[in-house]
This record gives sequence, C-alpha cells and structure tokens, in this order.
Amino acid sequence: MLKITPPLIIASGVGGMGEYLSLINKRYLGAYTLKTVTFKEKKGNLPPRMRSGDFYLLNRIGLENPGIDAFLQKLNDGEYDEIFSNTSVIASFGGDTLEEYIKIAEIIKPYVERFIAVEFNFSCPNVTQGGLSTMTKREAWMQTLLRIRKILPDTLLSAKIGIEGCFVEKAVADVRKSGWNCVTLLNTVRGLFIENGHPIAGGLSGPIMKPITLRAVYETKKLFKDIYVIASGGIMDEKDAEEMLIAGADAISLGTALFKDPHVVERIGRYLLKRSENP
Ligand SMILES: Cc1cc2nc3c(=O)[nH]c(=O)nc-3n(C[C@H](O)[C@H](O)[C@H](O)COP(=O)(O)O)c2cc1C
Repeated sequence: MLKITPPLIIASGVGGMGEYLSLINKRYLGAYTLKTVTFKEKKGNLPPRMRSGDFYLLNRIGLENPGIDAFLQKLNDGEYDEIFSNTSVIASFGGDTLEEYIKIAEIIKPYVERFIAVEFNFSCPNVTQGGLSTMTKREAWMQTLLRIRKILPDTLLSAKIGIEGCFVEKAVADVRKSGWNCVTLLNTVRGLFIENGHPIAGGLSGPIMKPITLRAVYETKKLFKDIYVIASGGIMDEKDAEEMLIAGADAISLGTALFKDPHVVERIGRYLLKRSENP
C-alpha cells in the first residue's frame, strides 16, 4: 500500500515539472505529482487558458507537454534531479488512445522505480482526443488496465478518474479488479465561459467541486476499503482536508488552492502531521 507522509500531494498540472517546489516548505509535503506527459507532444490550447470566479477556476491548458520521448530524455539528462532529491514524486501519463497508454507503460518500465507511484490520467476534459473518451468503452478500458498491470506488475498504479464518461463506483470496481492500488478522485469537470461574446470550453476546479469530490470519495471507500484514495477537487484549507479524511480519503491533493496561496501547503501539511500524532 502507498504510504505518503504527510498525506498531502501537489495535483498534476498545477506545479508543472517541479517549478512549484521553490515556493513551498517541503517538510509539509508528502508527494509531488508531475504534469501529465502524453505519448505525443502537445502544444496546448491558445489563450485564453484560464478564467476564475469566487468559487471556481476554469482552465483549458490542453495537457501541454513535450511528449514521452522528450520527457525521458530530460529525466536522463538530470533536468528533474532537483525535485527528486527533495521530494517523493508521482508521475502522470496520458494518451490520445488506449493503445498509447499501453505503449507508455512499456516505455516507462525501466524508469518506474524513480517514482513512488505512477498515475494514469483517464479524465482530462480539455483535449480533443483521449481524455474523457478513454473511459467510455468500459470493456476496452478494463483490458487496458489489465495490460498495464501486467507490464508494470510491481508499480503502485493510480487511475485518475473524473465524473464524466463514467460512473465512479463502477470505474473504481474495474480499477480494483485489474489489480491497481489506487484511485485519484476527481479530475476537472467540463465547464464553459464566455469571452467577448464567444463560448470557450474549459475544465472546472476549485471550491465548487468539494461536495462532488466528497461524495465520490465516500461512495468509493464504502465499497472498496483496500484501495488507496487520493482526494482531488475543491480542497482549499484544513477544514476541507479534514472533511475529505472523514469521507474516507487516504491522501489530500491540492490544485486550485496553490494558485491562491502557496502557504496552503504548509498549513494543511502541518495540520495533517499533528492529526497523525494525536489521532
Ligand atoms: C491549470 C490546471 C492544469 C491541470 N493539468 C492537469 C494535468 O496535466 N493532469 C491531470 O491529471 N490533471 C490536471 N489538472 C487537474 C488537477 O490535477 C485537479 O485534479 C483538479 O484541478 C481538481 O482539483 P482542485 O479543485 O484542487 O484544483 C489541472 C488543473 C488545473 C487547474
């Protein structure tokens, strides 16, 4: 089983490839998830890329990343050494098709020991291929999970699942049946903003997501006690973190909160450490 202390994680995509580390006190961070790396390079979407309101953020970054070959080249060249020397790292991968997820699993096999876990992102709403559509054909998705487990038999594998394109509890059942260890719940939800009279689609995150994440975590943990659940969506402070733990989360992931205040890591991390000392 995964062990992250304190159980506090930087969510994929909000801290790039470790750029956020200089802003936080690492003592209070359990793990850092890297930005999703896809099989092929993605240039991302043109601006505008983010819009925010009091209770939400909408982003349409579009999984901008250099692709798996360039990522591994940089890893080999030591470009990410700084983050590995200070922090437990979770890698995140995605693809345009399920076959690409399988190819990635094969390619990363020699590198997986560098990561405490490997997350596969099956739920990005801001791309035209892959993303949400990976989970709509459930049988093909489950076959993919089984193949990846076979390729990486000893790796701590997490499936990042959203609420669209699937029914969360059923998807978690498939993850469990496939021998994976962990689920990250949830990803952003499809939203829209209007810019100069034009509708622009993006992924919704932030406080507005909290009740949805709480429910997903709660229903999942009620059914599957032995799967490690990372709560991701709407956690902004210690109270939100506490409520996620009450719902059954094993670890807390921070995304939107980091844009508001980098010190949130220290505050929630300190809270979680104290909580584990005085259960
Ligand atoms: C700007 C931005 C970029 C993101 N990029 C990724 C990504 O590359 N991979 C991924 O799995 N999730 C990505 N996400 C989703 C977050 O990891 C997180 O699951 C989501 O924002 C919900 O958590 P929050 O409400 O704490 O932000 C991104 C979110 C934001 C706001």
